Amino acid sequence: MKNERSYCGELNQGHIGKRVDLAGWVESNRDLGGLLFMRLRDVTGTIQVVVDDSSPRDAREAAEGAKSEFVVSVSGTVRAREEKNINPEQATGSIEVCAESITILNESLTPPIPIDAKEPIGEEARLRYRFLDLRRAEMREAIVQRHNAMQAARNYLSARRFLEIETPFLNKSTPEGARDYLVPSRVNRGQFYALPQSPQLFKQILMISGFDRYFQIVKCFRDEDLRNDRQPEFTQIDMELSFMDGHGIMGIVEELLAEIVRAITGTAVTTPFPRMTYKESMARFGTDAPDTRFGLEIADCGDIFGESGFSVFKSALASGGVVRGIAVPGTDLSRKMTDRYAEEAKRLGAGGLPMFRYNGEAPESGIAKFISPAEMTALRERFSLDGPAYCFFAADTPATTSSVLGSLRTMIARERNLVDDKKLAFLWITDFPLFEHSAEEGRYYSTHHPFTAPKAECAAMLDSLSPETADSVTAQAYDVVLNGVEIGGGSIRINDPGLQNRVFKLLGITPEEAETKFSFLIDALKYGAPPHGGIALGLDRILMILLGKQSIRDVIAFPKTARGQCLMSGAPSPVSAEQLRELNLKIIGT
Ligand code: AMO
Repeated sequence: MKNERSYCGELNQGHIGKRVDLAGWVESNRDLGGLLFMRLRDVTGTIQVVVDDSSPRDAREAAEGAKSEFVVSVSGTVRAREEKNINPEQATGSIEVCAESITILNESLTPPIPIDAKEPIGEEARLRYRFLDLRRAEMREAIVQRHNAMQAARNYLSARRFLEIETPFLNKSTPEGARDYLVPSRVNRGQFYALPQSPQLFKQILMISGFDRYFQIVKCFRDEDLRNDRQPEFTQIDMELSFMDGHGIMGIVEELLAEIVRAITGTAVTTPFPRMTYKESMARFGTDAPDTRFGLEIADCGDIFGESGFSVFKSALASGGVVRGIAVPGTDLSRKMTDRYAEEAKRLGAGGLPMFRYNGEAPESGIAKFISPAEMTALRERFSLDGPAYCFFAADTPATTSSVLGSLRTMIARERNLVDDKKLAFLWITDFPLFEHSAEEGRYYSTHHPFTAPKAECAAMLDSLSPETADSVTAQAYDVVLNGVEIGGGSIRINDPGLQNRVFKLLGITPEEAETKFSFLIDALKYGAPPHGGIALGLDRILMILLGKQSIRDVIAFPKTARGQCLMSGAPSPVSAEQLRELNLKIIGT
């Protein structure tokens, strides 16, 4: 085969009259007797190849024998299509290649999934035959764009003195909150490696080693329940920097994200991104990853219902809870819809979903009889009502009201088409609490991870930490959110071994445990650890949003199903008795 091959999707009117050599797959083949039209596809797109009276006989014979997905090479001359044959929907729709020779390079069985289907194809079949699914334009484009995003990140970071440094996959476990994938060691019997949930400790060690700007586009492994935006192995753009505070890091990340957006969509992003504290985000949106493309904000109504005649509000407030609500403008919510919202509220732990309809003058239906005129006046102002609306309330603990109203807010916005799909709403969430307290387990968890530094003014509070005060210890941590999805998270790290040990202790990690798990970090921190911090961006999630996909599976070449399986290769699978023996492992039940 010749080396100077042209690409189907790159041909344009400038090539008219030129001879080209192409190679690819036959997407379709229409034999109209005198004329034969073949759509040829390669990694860049498709082009129409025509066999007509001027084409040699053996080219015609090859074209007649070339069925769907056969691999062929074609040589011919580019020409303009006749006016009536121009296809404006095809990128190369105004030109065609008149074939001078066609060679069949390989045959294909009839593909079990259509490659050029307009209608959706079942995902199970797509994952089973991923080698064919990846030939489809939509998947091909996603994979090309993924490459573009990675290149943009590499170029941007390399130009700013970041070094790309690899870190090991066979590790000791690092706690990021999920379960580890374990790998048995054959040589060290009875011992296991853990696949990294992230390169967290290694990137911190690199800072201590003096590489003051690190990045890596790296696979991370977490054995957790899977969702549309979660895979057991996923890719982070992982970064760490020395001698820079959180604001500096956020600035660099904003420009990096703007660069990625430019590479993928060609559009400009406004920087800096808005910033909001965790507390404000929870109060206004009920979540720490708010979608700010639409309103329907949550409002606190506790002060309005101080004297409420409605027992649910009264008892929630009396027991230290909160009453919050959202208002949905309009008059057209059916009973069926509001019942569904109430079910969702119950599923999320609320006793119910108190509501009423405001007809523009007075409340009606639902809990209307409990709403006094003074309360209604206050609510009208609180929700900025200037016409009819439905008002929904949650009266419970702050956590339950947040999750109920936060979920309702997005559910209603989606149903009522309030979300502008073209918008990219980036924002930072800052000032996370350092710890979360679990009342059931009677212990603290790190909101980010145990290596996150508290704000300097909160460090002293660690000595007298109690479940009641845990919330007020603020971390130097930040998440970046895009369209309601957490696309990255990071923090300034603890660089003082004494403080690190104190945090371990508060997390219930005993000195012995800390010694076996993290002694290398504690040791390293004793040898001149610079102030440092970093972040990891979820590449799959960023691509999912920028390419308008519903699932990260659609931006990953070989993803796993929700059960963690690869339907193409059949992983995971049993291994031979011999392999188990070598590893000194025994399966004791399934
Ligand atoms: P974190 O755990 O927040 O931080 O992860 C960073 C980002 O990775 C993405 N992400 C995932 N994407 C797909 N599937 C998953 N299972 C999955 N889990 C996480 C998210 C998330 O924001 N070491 C820290 C970073 C740091 O502190 O520098 C870390 O891994 O977009």
